[in-house]
Amino acid sequence: MFAGLQAVLLFCAVSSTLGAVLPKKRATVCNGRAELCNRPYGNTTFLGSHDSAFFSSDPFALARDQEVDIPTQLSLGVRFLQSQAHEKDGALHFCHTSCDLFDGGLVVDYLSKVKTFLDANPNEVLTLLFTNPEGLSLTDMWKPAFDNSGVTPFTYVPPHQPMKRSEWPTLGQLIDSGKRVIVFLDAGADGSVDFILSEFTQLWEPPFSETNSTFPCSVDRIDGPLSTVDHLNMLNHNLNVDLLGTGILLSDRIDAPTTNGVTSILANANGCAPFAGGVAPNFVMLDYVNVGQGMQAVNRLNGFA
Ligand SMILES: *[C@@H]1O[C@H](CO)[C@@H](O)[C@H](O)[C@H]1NC(C)=O
Ligand SMILES: *[C@@H]1O[C@H](CO)[C@@H](O)[C@H](O)[C@H]1NC(C)=O
Repeated sequence: MFAGLQAVLLFCAVSSTLGAVLPKKRATVCNGRAELCNRPYGNTTFLGSHDSAFFSSDPFALARDQEVDIPTQLSLGVRFLQSQAHEKDGALHFCHTSCDLFDGGLVVDYLSKVKTFLDANPNEVLTLLFTNPEGLSLTDMWKPAFDNSGVTPFTYVPPHQPMKRSEWPTLGQLIDSGKRVIVFLDAGADGSVDFILSEFTQLWEPPFSETNSTFPCSVDRIDGPLSTVDHLNMLNHNLNVDLLGTGILLSDRIDAPTTNGVTSILANANGCAPFAGGVAPNFVMLDYVNVGQGMQAVNRLNGFA
């Protein structure tokens, strides 16, 4: 009886000690794959959505580049969301070139949808790449949108910048830390907000607004002291057509099944690989992500046949 009580007490003491010292359970599936938990972020390929906020199911909305909304894009496997922001009536909106042409709504509302996804999907790493053509203030305009949507606590702050491609944590480490949203801004990322990272010092881009369906690759935009191979890289794999020879470029919806096919995406990745030290791109950015086989191509690039 006495020995039994001792054993119970000992058991309680041991289990409470274990509870205090054992680390939180590690993620065993990351972005849908067990194999990706130990894979560094810089050695992973993610599916991306170009102009993600400019979605419309109306084929006559000529400034659209997507057909489906943010939750649907995420449900299709998109883990890299790109969009362009402008100021409208003192507030930060996602607008395509101008808010008169296409107003995709408030950035804070968009980010609230991202927050809903993050809460429901705790084992997913997500990258946001926003553009800031008006050079709007990080502290006054951008940070409040992240704070008010509740996305800020999920954002990753690297130990230093620029980060080499080989220095990024694994997806498992990002997920286990809860800091699993990486935020890049193309312009004005001056360090005033620690989680808004400068794009071109860490990520190079090939030409954009391509009209050649073979996507000839070159290093178009890059900045900072790191070499090209030490940068992350993405494919601007979105094809445009010139509207009746006017020079106005529209995303090519008719060709989207071919453009977003495995063959076209892998050919583009091959064309860019020599600039990237022979490895796959980190981000495959598409128009009309609901069309074609973007996720299949990304799986292939990640080595999942
Ligand atoms: C990751 O590493 C493998 C093996 O070296 C390589 O084949 C693949 O292209 C790399 N992917 C990226 C995105 O770096
Ligand atoms: C498209 O790019 C290829 C190289 O990938 C080039 O040979 C061809 O001339 C280009 N076509 C046009 C119309 O510029």
